Amino acid sequence: MTPTDRQESRSGGQALRTALVEAAESLRRAGVHSPRVDAEFLAAHVLGVERLRLALISMMTPEQLGEYRKLVARRAERVPLQHLTGAAAMGEIDLAVGPGVFVPRPETELLFAWALAHLEAAGHEHPPVVVDLCTGSGALALAIAHARPDAEVHAVELDSVAMGWAERNAETRAADGDTPITLHRGDVTDPGILSALNGRADVVISNPPYIPTGVVLDPEVAEHDPHLALFAGADGLDVIRPMIATIARLLRTDGVTAIEHDDSNGSQVVTLLTTHGGFTAVIEHPDLAGKPRFVAARRIN
Ligand SMILES: C[S@@+](CC[C@H](N)C(=O)[O-])C[C@H]1O[C@@H](n2cnc3c(N)ncnc32)[C@H](O)[C@@H]1O
Repeated sequence: MTPTDRQESRSGGQALRTALVEAAESLRRAGVHSPRVDAEFLAAHVLGVERLRLALISMMTPEQLGEYRKLVARRAERVPLQHLTGAAAMGEIDLAVGPGVFVPRPETELLFAWALAHLEAAGHEHPPVVVDLCTGSGALALAIAHARPDAEVHAVELDSVAMGWAERNAETRAADGDTPITLHRGDVTDPGILSALNGRADVVISNPPYIPTGVVLDPEVAEHDPHLALFAGADGLDVIRPMIATIARLLRTDGVTAIEHDDSNGSQVVTLLTTHGGFTAVIEHPDLAGKPRFVAARRIN
C-alpha cells in the first residue's frame, strides 16, 4: 500500500490521480472528445486551482470527490464543460456562460488576434471605434476593451437571454477596471441599427450564426447552444449576407472588417464582400487546421 493509498482508506477521499483516471474513462465511454483534458478541468474547478497546478495536489476529500463525481456525470451527459465550470475564455479574460448563451470558441481567438494586430499596426490618432456584431456573451467586445482601454467599443445582440449574459459580463469587466463597452439590443441586419455610428467605425468584427440548417452537431452544441446562435438558413449565410450592408455603412474609409464563417462557405463570403463593391483587400484567413475560418476586408470610398 502506498502512503496515498493509506491516506485514501483512512479519509474516505481518493487519490487525485485515481479520480482523474476514473473520470477520464467515464467521459471517454460517453463519447466526449477530450476526456482527460475535461476531467482535469473539472478537477481543477472543484479544487479551486489552475489546471496546470493539479500536479501539486495528491488527494481529494470526500466532499470534493462527491462534487467532482456529480460534475463528471453531467459532463458524461454531454453538458458543455463551460456550463459546468461557468466560464469560457477569450483573449486575456474569462466570460460567464451558461444556458441561453453561445459558448465562445477557441477558434474565434484568431478573429480577436487579427483585430488586435490591426489596431496595433494602424496606430489610430483618435480613440479607435470597434464594433462587435452578434456579440453573444460579449466575448469579442469585452476582450478588445480589456486589451485596448483606449478603444470605444460597441456590441450588438438580438437575443434577450444572451444580452443578459453580455450585460453581466460587461458589469464584471467594468468593475475590474476595464473601459466600459456600449451594448445595443438589436438586429445586425436592420438597415437602421447603430446609425449614430455611420462612417465612424475603424474595425467591425463578427462571429455570427453561420451553420447551414440541417448540419448534425455534437450534443454539447445541438442541445445547449441556442439555435439562434448557430443556424443561418440553408447555406449558412442568412445573417452574413444582409449584415455586409451594415458593416459597409458603419466603417469609415480604410476601416476594416473580419467575419467568421462556416468552413464550407469561405469563398461565398469573399464573393459577397467583393461584389458589394465597397471593399478591397478581401482576404480569406484559414485556422490552425488549414480550414477557411474568417474573411477580412478593407472599406473603400
Ligand atoms: C455564434 S454566436 C457568437 C457569439 C459571440 N460573438 C462569440 O463569438 O462568442 C452568434 C450570436 O449572434 C446572435 N444573433 C443571431 N442573429 C442575430 C441578428 N440578426 N442580430 C444580432 N444578433 C444575432 C445570437 O443570439 C448569438 O448570440
